Amino acid sequence: MMLLQNRRHSVNALREDLMLRLVGPPMERDDARIRRAVAGKTVLVTGASFGQGEATARLLARNGAVVVMIARSVDRLAEVADEITASGGIAHAYGVDLSDAASVTSFADSMLRLHGPADIVIHNAGKSLRRSIYRSAQRISDMDAMVGANFTGPMRLTLALLPSMKENGGGHIVSIATAGLWLTPAAPRWSFYLGCKGGFDVWLRSVALEVKRDNIDVTTIYAGHIKSRMVATDWVSKSPGHTPSQAARVVAYAVTRRPRHLAPRGTGLIRLFGIVFERPFGSVLSLVDRRSSETAASDAAFQRAMSKNSEPAALTSTEAV
Ligand SMILES: NC(=O)c1ccc[n+]([C@@H]2O[C@H](COP(=O)([O-])OP(=O)(O)OC[C@H]3O[C@@H](n4cnc5c(N)ncnc54)[C@H](OP(=O)(O)O)[C@@H]3O)[C@@H](O)[C@H]2O)c1
Repeated sequence: MMLLQNRRHSVNALREDLMLRLVGPPMERDDARIRRAVAGKTVLVTGASFGQGEATARLLARNGAVVVMIARSVDRLAEVADEITASGGIAHAYGVDLSDAASVTSFADSMLRLHGPADIVIHNAGKSLRRSIYRSAQRISDMDAMVGANFTGPMRLTLALLPSMKENGGGHIVSIATAGLWLTPAAPRWSFYLGCKGGFDVWLRSVALEVKRDNIDVTTIYAGHIKSRMVATDWVSKSPGHTPSQAARVVAYAVTRRPRHLAPRGTGLIRLFGIVFERPFGSVLSLVDRRSSETAASDAAFQRAMSKNSEPAALTSTEAV
């Protein structure tokens, strides 16, 4: 029985691996190449306390980068930094809330003073929210948290660091967007997430056109499912996806090759379809949405938040599915 279960497990794992190789964005599997790209470089990773950000910080530090990590969970961040240091890497951790302007500005000042200009900035931090618009109307503080983490925070940080990158002779900015933006122009219940991620994406791609001449490259990763706490309780968690360590290798691919964007392979046609047939595509999504209900996790998180009474602090990523 046990043997049968193990065999079924490995067949599933093989099938998932094959699928990711076929449709997932490419991963950098060559550590020597990563080392050549990052050794001795100062790399800022936002949202490095969990998930893809943590795995990226570990991978790049293991290959010689001086990693500067930020997130709100200071204890967790310090733990990751200590582990990196104990295994011979260099990591610095700072508690920063991207939705707090003063926190971002003060961090950027410290970063420039203590570590100098960033060679590579990885905008990984993000906050997800799948919720109907009528429920959102009752939870306006979540809107501010979403905008800060996904849009204004990363913009403010970029603005604070860009001049020093230019002065330093160039650099690379990597942003983690979502495949949702790549595949659909819009999607019901994802208005805040797609709106904020999309806003930053368009902003950064516009900036890219200006800073190219200063030797600053910009890459956007339209990431598919990453098996992190962000989607742990969502229906998405049941679909094939990258582990955080695999997702970190997608980021490493971006860092070593510096493409303009990375997206799930072979999805160009779906993207084109979505743009050309935007109305019927939207109608299908609305129909599916009308037939589906809130997920149990989303329902529970919403009820929890509402029972805490008027406008409690913003939901955590895990709750906000
Ligand atoms: N998981 C997926 O399926 C998926 C799919 C497409 C795109 N993405 C994107 O991939 C990126 C990484 O997500 P993940 O899956 O690794 O999720 P995760 O495990 O929840 O990590 C998110 C990170 O962002 C940080 N963060 C959130 N709000 C912040 C704020 N206001 N200030 C500073 N840091 C903040 C979190 O740290 P603290 O809570 O400690 O602040 C955490 O380290 C995100 O940008 C996400 O939108 C994820």
